[in-house]
Parts: sequence; C-alpha cells; structure tokens
Amino acid sequence: MNADSRTRLDQTPEWTALAQHREQLGEVRMRDLFAADAGRGSGYTLQVGDLYVDYSKHLVTDETLRLLRELAAARDVFGLRAAMFRGEKINTTENRAVLHTALRAPRDAVIEVDGENVVPRVHAVLDKMADFADRVRSGAWTGHTGKPIKNVVNVGIGGSDLGPAMAYDVLRAFTDRDITVRFVSNVDGADLHEATRDLDAAETLFVIASKTFTTIETITNATSARDWLLGELKAGQEAVAQHFVALSTNTREVSGFGIDPANMFEFWDWVGGRYSYDSAIGLSLMIAIGPDRFREMLDGFHLVDEHFRTAPAESNVPLLLGLLGIWYGNFHDAQSHAVLPYSHYLSKFTAYLQQLDMESNGKSVGRDGREVDWQTGPVVWGTPGTNGQHAYYQLIHQGTKLIPADFIGFAEPVAELSDELKAQHDLLMANFFAQTQALAFGKTPDEVRAEGVPEELVAHKTFKGDHPTTTLLARALTPSVLGQLVALYEHKVFVQGAIWNIDSFDQWGVELGKVLAKRVEPALTEGADVPGLDPSTRALVAKYRELRGR
Ligand code: F6P
Repeated sequence: MNADSRTRLDQTPEWTALAQHREQLGEVRMRDLFAADAGRGSGYTLQVGDLYVDYSKHLVTDETLRLLRELAAARDVFGLRAAMFRGEKINTTENRAVLHTALRAPRDAVIEVDGENVVPRVHAVLDKMADFADRVRSGAWTGHTGKPIKNVVNVGIGGSDLGPAMAYDVLRAFTDRDITVRFVSNVDGADLHEATRDLDAAETLFVIASKTFTTIETITNATSARDWLLGELKAGQEAVAQHFVALSTNTREVSGFGIDPANMFEFWDWVGGRYSYDSAIGLSLMIAIGPDRFREMLDGFHLVDEHFRTAPAESNVPLLLGLLGIWYGNFHDAQSHAVLPYSHYLSKFTAYLQQLDMESNGKSVGRDGREVDWQTGPVVWGTPGTNGQHAYYQLIHQGTKLIPADFIGFAEPVAELSDELKAQHDLLMANFFAQTQALAFGKTPDEVRAEGVPEELVAHKTFKGDHPTTTLLARALTPSVLGQLVALYEHKVFVQGAIWNIDSFDQWGVELGKVLAKRVEPALTEGADVPGLDPSTRALVAKYRELRGR
C-alpha cells in the first residue's frame, strides 16, 4: 500500500471503533476483569522462545485485543513487515533498506538489497570478527611492544556505544574476566580520562565504533585516545596498527584517521545505528564473551525475527506489545512507558531501549510528510528493581499518571554466584511478583480499614490499582535470551511506527543540535561573535567565558 495515499490514522473506522470501545469500557477495573474470567491469569499469556509473556494485568478485554489487531491489519503492519524482511527501502526519508534482521540470518539465507544477496557479506564479517576476537582472547594478537591485549576500550556514541555497553553488562557472567572492557562515549574528557587512567597502554586495544566515522564526539575521543597511547608508549604512528581497530561503514574516513582498512570491520547503510550491536559494532562484546556466545545471541535474535515474521496476529508477541502501547498512548493518554528489569545485569537495558524506541518513534511528521494528529512514541524510562521500588515506584502506585510497565525477570540467578547470594534470588523475585500484583489490584479502603488503620489515614494508604504491566519471565539470562529480548523490542517499535505511519528508521531530530554546537564552539573558545546567537544563549556564553577566566 502506498503510505502517502492512506487514510489518516485517526480517520479510519478501526481507530473510531477503538475510541468508542474505550468509552464503553469506561473505568474498567482489573479486579473485575479477573473476576469475570477465572482463566485470565494463564490464558492471557504467550510464549516466544524462552520468554513467557503474561499480559493478563492489562486494561483490555478480548474485544480490545481484537479491535487493536484490526487496526494493525488496516494499517498493513504485516505488509510493511514483509517489505522490511525482503530488503525494500522502507526507510524512505533516507532511501535505505532496513535489514538488521539480515545480521542474524543463517548462512544459507538469501536476502537481497539492490539485487545482491547480503548474507554472505554478513557472515564474512562475522568470521573476520571471530578470528580477531579469538586472537585477542588467546593472546596471539599483541600490542606494539609485544604484550598481549588485556584491556579493550570501545569508543563510540549512541548506537555505537549503548548496545555493546548494555550487552557487555548483561552478559558479564559469560565474559573472560581477565580482559577489562570499557566504553567511552561522552565528549566530556572525563570519560576517556577515567577509562584509561589506570590502564597500561601497551596492553590496550581501542575499538573505534562509528557507522559514519564522522561523529564529532567519537572522532574527538579517538584522536585523544591515539595521542594518549602514542604518548604512553613513546611511539610513533606505526604503533596505531596494533592498538586501533575500526567498526564502520566508511572505509575512506577510517583510513583517513590512520587505521588500516585491514583492521576495519565493516557494516552497511541498511543497518541503523540503534539496530547495530549485532553487527560489527558488537566486536568489543565478542572479544569479551567469545564468538560462540555471540553466535548464540544472534540465534536468539533470529528466533524472535522468525516468530515476528511468521506467527499469526493472535500469538505474535511483538505485535501484541506494540498494540498494548498504542492502547495506552493513544486511548488512555499515557505519556511514558517504564521498563523495569529485575536483574542487576540489565542495569543498562532501559537506557539502551531509550535510543531504540525514542530515536525511532519520537517523530511528529508522518511518512506522508504531514504533521501527525496523534500521539507517537512514549518516554521510555526505568532502572532495575528492587532499587526503583525505593525511589520512584511511589509515583507509579499512587501518583496521578498512568504508566504502563514491563517487568522482566528470571527464574534462576546466574550460575557463578555463591550459594548464599543465589539464595537472595527468591527475595528479588518475590518483589518482582509482588509489585505487579500491587500495581494491578491495589488495596481498597475497606481492606485498609480492616487492618485497623485510623480513618484519617485510610485514603493515604489506599492503592487504587489498575496500573497495567506486562511480565516477561525466562528461566535464565543467557546470550540467546538477551538476543530474544532485544529483537522483541525492535519489532515492537516497528509495529508502533507502522501504525503511526512514521519512518522509525531515520533520526533527523538529532541534526540541529549538532549543527548549532559546531557554530557555537568558536564563541566559547575564541570569543568569536557568532551571528544568529539568540540573546539568551549569547548571555550564557558570555557568563561561561567569564567563569573560565577568558
Ligand atoms: O546522533 C544520533 C546518531 O546518529 C545515532 O543514530 C547513532 O547511533 C549515533 O549518532 C552514532 O553515530 P555513528 O555510529 O555514525 O558515530
């Protein structure tokens, strides 16, 4: 279907039907939904790969879900899905294919972009990465002075940082603990300083990760890293080859920087930055966990890709999660979505999802070039439980905002914990289950009174409940499960972008700030009179120079 000629989303009969349904449901209560259906707790569940998905604690009925699926069908979500998997250029504003799914396709798959099967190229790079990772891990790859590599510093930002940094943390228990892996992203020099201050340069490998190889933060940090290394080693440019590799689509800029293209691991313009950590961008992660574990992770991604591609609408988990987000964002005025993992290893998971979701669907212009009249991507936020419980859960339970949340938990603690620490896992998970129960069912004033609470405190101690949550539960956190989780969210984001009729794969909204930063910089450094500075910014720049004694 030609996206430009489609009826506006909010004028479709399916949208109107959902709006009417929302009105009819009124203030639907979670307690009533469960009372009306004894099987809801186990019936409103799905399984994909290792992930058990419970969506019973949502403000939806069978009818709601049916109407949401009809909306998806009317917006041809599955048509766009097929176009994506086929390698069509569905990123229309950049005229690019969107093929992160090809990064985890099996060797014998055939996926064509402009008539060329890209799968052999994907596997050639994976093999090159594996060979390199093995050499670093075994000590066969040595630095300029002959010492083996003990430290890996990934320098990149956005998708060239958040993915590998997140995954490294998630899979820490699978990493070679003798290798230190750090991630530098911020152009604040403190980031590189802290990452390198205790490292022996002779044992340090810098992995410069940048799709474009023109991102100012990354190139600035990479240049400083090179200066640091050469200074520490008291060596010339010839030392770079053993200590710098590049992950990029841009061979010209990589060699311009002084990195031998032989030490470059390639990916392609049909891989979006925020969809890229399963490409060459995952090299630091592969060095940490080894090629076999990395491949297990890719298999996890692929499993969910296949599920998304083939499962019918009724049991398609990414579709379901996307539609639930539409239900709350567009029909309940929810502004945000919390992702609350009950695993300390997933500390950076939500930060990773912020880019995935908010850079993809934080748009207000549709594929048809017109302003949209409906809400698009939510604010995504959250940190691991139980920490959040002692910080902001108060607002989720008793505040004035509706905040749908995903709770992610695992039945088993990671294997390497001591028995004593493993024993804490049940307490962690007791909190996990308790929270979604409290959020859904709350505590009525009568229940509070029955506890003997004085009348003046009853309202304060009442929990209204009806806060929707999805529970994602797996046996254990493994590389494959991580791949499954990430693919699930990637496709959820896809579903929502398709319904909202926005291009989820461009990111024009980050450009203006970049351009202005370049323009403002001479005003800070040289006091240059930068034309076009507004009065507020001009005064701030003057204050900054005064404070710096310039
Ligand atoms: O500024 C946003 C962005 O373009 C992201 O989309 C991307 O992940 C990040 O910058 C880094 O880009 P690159 O990998 O080209 O350095």
